[in-house]
Amino acid sequence: MNSNNSPISNQVLSTIKQRSSARAYSTEQLTQSELDIILTAGLMAPTGINRQEIHFTVVKGYNPVLAELDEEKRRLRGQEKQPHNFYYEAPVLIFLSAEDGFKWSKVDSGIAVENMTLAAESLGLGTLIIGCVYDALHGEKQEYFSEKLKMPQGYSFQIALAVGHKTDNKIPHEYDYEKQVTVLE
Ligand SMILES: Cc1cc2nc3c(=O)[nH]c(=O)nc-3n(C[C@H](O)[C@H](O)[C@H](O)COP(=O)(O)O)c2cc1C
Repeated sequence: MNSNNSPISNQVLSTIKQRSSARAYSTEQLTQSELDIILTAGLMAPTGINRQEIHFTVVKGYNPVLAELDEEKRRLRGQEKQPHNFYYEAPVLIFLSAEDGFKWSKVDSGIAVENMTLAAESLGLGTLIIGCVYDALHGEKQEYFSEKLKMPQGYSFQIALAVGHKTDNKIPHEYDYEKQVTVLE
């Protein structure tokens, strides 16, 4: 059950409401300006004690490291080659890594990735938040992939974002307000 009866409507609320994960993309690249806007949204996200401990690695979809990562993810999961790779052939991926041992690294990464997601949505672009490569990026090949993805020393992968021009049109997910919300009087 959704509770969409708010009388207030503005650009931010519309963007939040219309966002949905995209799992099909055209080959059209992002412009430099689109990429800058999305990265700036990530950089402007709040972080615990303003630590700014997130690093953003932008990788074009054709970079060979992504095929290696896809293969390692499948190897760890015992999966055959899938019809799509883990980022659904999106033209751009942004990997967020963060300082190990900082209490808020995961929370801050989540906030930053959602800021970027909404920025991309507001530009008419599709996005997919990607966590399925987490084990591959924290496993026996962690050092190899961290080096390839130029993560700073002492940082490790948190979450990734695929961005591009979407060619599917999934509708936003349903939610159960009663189940998920408690209001104490
Ligand atoms: C932390 C996180 C990790 C996710 N990892 C993946 C992933 O690896 N692959 C994928 O296809 N979707 C992934 N998703 C997308 C979720 O499946 C999706 O957000 C959820 O099904 C709700 O759908 P919606 O985004 O369209 O509202 C992830 C989402 C989050 C928040």
